[in-house]
Amino acid sequence: MSQKISLTRYLVEQQRMEGHIPSQLRLLLEVVARACKRISQAVNKGALGGENSILGTAGSENVQGEVQKKLDIIANEVLIEANEWGGHLAAMASEEMDGIYVVPNRYPQGEYLLLFDPLDGSSNIDVNVSIGTIFSVLKMPEDDRGVDEGDFLQPGRQQVAAGYCVYGPQTTLVLTVGDGVAMFTLDREQGSFVLIEENVRISPDTQEFAINMSNMRHWDEPVRRYIDECLAGQEGPRGKNFNMRWVASMVADVHRILCRGGIFMYPWDKREPDKAGKLRLMYEANPMSWLIEQAGGAATNGHQRILDIQPTKLHERVSVILGSKNEVERVTGYHAKL
Ligand code: AHG
Ligand code: MN
Ligand code: MN
Repeated sequence: MSQKISLTRYLVEQQRMEGHIPSQLRLLLEVVARACKRISQAVNKGALGGENSILGTAGSENVQGEVQKKLDIIANEVLIEANEWGGHLAAMASEEMDGIYVVPNRYPQGEYLLLFDPLDGSSNIDVNVSIGTIFSVLKMPEDDRGVDEGDFLQPGRQQVAAGYCVYGPQTTLVLTVGDGVAMFTLDREQGSFVLIEENVRISPDTQEFAINMSNMRHWDEPVRRYIDECLAGQEGPRGKNFNMRWVASMVADVHRILCRGGIFMYPWDKREPDKAGKLRLMYEANPMSWLIEQAGGAATNGHQRILDIQPTKLHERVSVILGSKNEVERVTGYHAKL
């Protein structure tokens, strides 16, 4: 094959060709990628860190009442330390922090806002199954003096970059700046991310679904109908058999869908009826939905395109249905018939 293209070169060429990645955004993406490299190294060490083992719980809870793992906190710190001094950001927000983190006065402030789920799939850390980091980049509203939480509350369609890094058999960074989806795998000998695919596309049809089936009795009617019809297979109304996968790391499930199609759902359910869903809108659903749309797929909450939802709070939750277009439209259509 011809020469390998590094993430740095890809971004420089994007900046040149499209002219729509300003240098600050390019720097931001490089810094996020560097942080992901460090998190990947920590993930790889596992129990070998001795007293500093990254496995196990940290003995604390986040704002959402979830027990924090050591790696949740380590990954959060790595992302903050890497990003706070470069001058490209005004503030950051994370699943693991109650409020926003404003870039300290001692550093210059930039015009971007970075949101992240530092470690997605926490329940898989201790059992050596794929986990990841998800990120979303927004711009500060124009003429805004002093950053606050309200500046983050922008619908997902206003993202200027989004991506994730999956720490699996390979460490792979997947990125969009609004011009399709590109994938880069970490070459550990070179120490850099290398382009492996430039124009990721999701087929509109699929025979594979991803949902936590143990929640079936709590689902709403449209979701139950859709899964019942998949399970009925060849003899049922769909006339074809379906396969099922559930990694319980959204990053890994979405990555599989970007690689070979499929539909992913974490819908609202009756366990906690007051919550819109389990997943978080701003740093899980929005970046993943934009990637999926950029690859030709679709993402809704059953009623509305996820990227059009106007957030009302930083840690807002949302019902998520995303992946192969025709299947997502089918489930969304079932909701409309209610
Ligand atoms: P996080 O580890 O960041 O809290 O996210 C976990 C999420 C998501 O990655 C995954 O799809 C889902 O939780 C799994 O939930 P269940 O354990 O309920 O299946
Ligand atoms: Mn997560
Ligand atoms: Mn997380």
